[in-house]
Amino acid sequence: MAEDIYILGIESSCDETAAAVIRNGREVLSNVISSQIDLHTLYGGVVPEIASRKHIEKINQVVETALKEAGKSLEEMDGIAVTYGPGLVGALLVGVSFAKALAFALNKPLIGVHHIEGHISANFIEHKELEPPFACLVVSGGHTHLVVVKDYGEYEILGCTRDDAAGEAFDKVARAIGLGYPGGPKIDKVSKEGNPDAIHFPRAKVENSRYDFSFSGLKSAVLNYINSCEMKGEVVNVPDVAASFQKAVVDVLVEHALAAVEEFGFRRFAIAGGVASNSSLRKAFEEACEKRDIEFYCPSPIFCTDNAAMIGVAGYYEYIKGMRSGYDLNAVPNLKLGER
Ligand code: KG4
Ligand code: ZN
Repeated sequence: MAEDIYILGIESSCDETAAAVIRNGREVLSNVISSQIDLHTLYGGVVPEIASRKHIEKINQVVETALKEAGKSLEEMDGIAVTYGPGLVGALLVGVSFAKALAFALNKPLIGVHHIEGHISANFIEHKELEPPFACLVVSGGHTHLVVVKDYGEYEILGCTRDDAAGEAFDKVARAIGLGYPGGPKIDKVSKEGNPDAIHFPRAKVENSRYDFSFSGLKSAVLNYINSCEMKGEVVNVPDVAASFQKAVVDVLVEHALAAVEEFGFRRFAIAGGVASNSSLRKAFEEACEKRDIEFYCPSPIFCTDNAAMIGVAGYYEYIKGMRSGYDLNAVPNLKLGER
C-alpha cells in the first residue's frame, strides 16, 4: 500500500487565521479557524491593518493546535500549502511568510495555493465520489465566478461579476438595513421571517454576456427603496427587504449557473465560498438540479467560509502533480484563477 501523504494547509487571506492537516487529499484530520469577526464588527467591516496584526498574533498557536488535534508533528508533513492570493496583501503575507519559514526550516515542499481553488476543492472533502470535470459557482465576499473545473488545478472561467461580489452585496445591504457585519448570515437568518415576494428588486442581466453577473444595481435598488420608505415616513420591514433581496440574488445565481450547466451538458454541479452556506441558495440549487437530474454538491457551511482544510486539499492535488513554489513565493492580492 502506498504511504499516506500529509499536507499542512495555512490560510490568512482575510479575517480568518486557519490551519488544517489533510491526509491523502480528502481526509480532514484537523481544521482550526481563529475568526476575527468580533473585532472587525466594531468597525462594520474588515480593517486590513488589524487583520494582519491579528494573524501575526494567532498563526503560531493555530498551526500548533492543528497539528496537535491531528496527532501529527511538523516532521510528518509531506508539504506545506498556503494561500498566496487573492486577498488582503498584509493578511496574505503573514501566512505566506510563516509557510515559507516552515518549509525552509524543515526542508519540506512549499505549495502556493489560489484561494478560489481552495474554495472549489472544499467540495472534495465530503463528496469522495466527486471528480472533475464539473461546473462550480464560487460565491464569496470577494468573488462571484462561474467556473468549469476541467481537471484538478485546471479551470476555465465562464463568467464573473462585473462589479460587486455576491457576498459584498449581502454585506452592504445588511449594513443599510441595520443588521450589521457580517451581513450574509444575518440576512439569511432574518429572511426566514420575511416574505421574499414582498418587494420586487431587479434581476440584473449583463449585456452580451450570459454568464456574467452584476449586483451593484440590485444594491442601489435596495438603498433607493429604503430611502423612499424613509421619505414617506414608512417603517421599513427588515425581514421583507432581506428576504426579497436574497431572492433576487438567488434567482440570478441559479438562472445563470444552470444555463451554463445545461449549455455545456454537465451532469455535476457544485457551489463553493462563503455565500454557498446560504440556506435559501442551497435549497434553490438542490431543487433546480434535482428537476434536471443533475448531481448537486455543496460543502458543509464550515467548509464554505474561509478555512485551511480547503487549502490543504487543493495543495495536495498540486503536490501530487509535482507543483512546488520557490522561497520567493509572494502574496499576490489580485491573483487570477489559473495564473502562477
Ligand atoms: O468565502 P468567505 O468566507 O470569504 C471570502 O473569500 O470572501 O466569504 C465571506 C462572505 C461574506 O460576504 C459573508 O457575508 C458571506 O460570505 N456569507 C453569507 C453567508 N455566510 C457567509 N452570505 C449569505 N448567506 C450566508 N449564510
Ligand atoms: Zn474565501
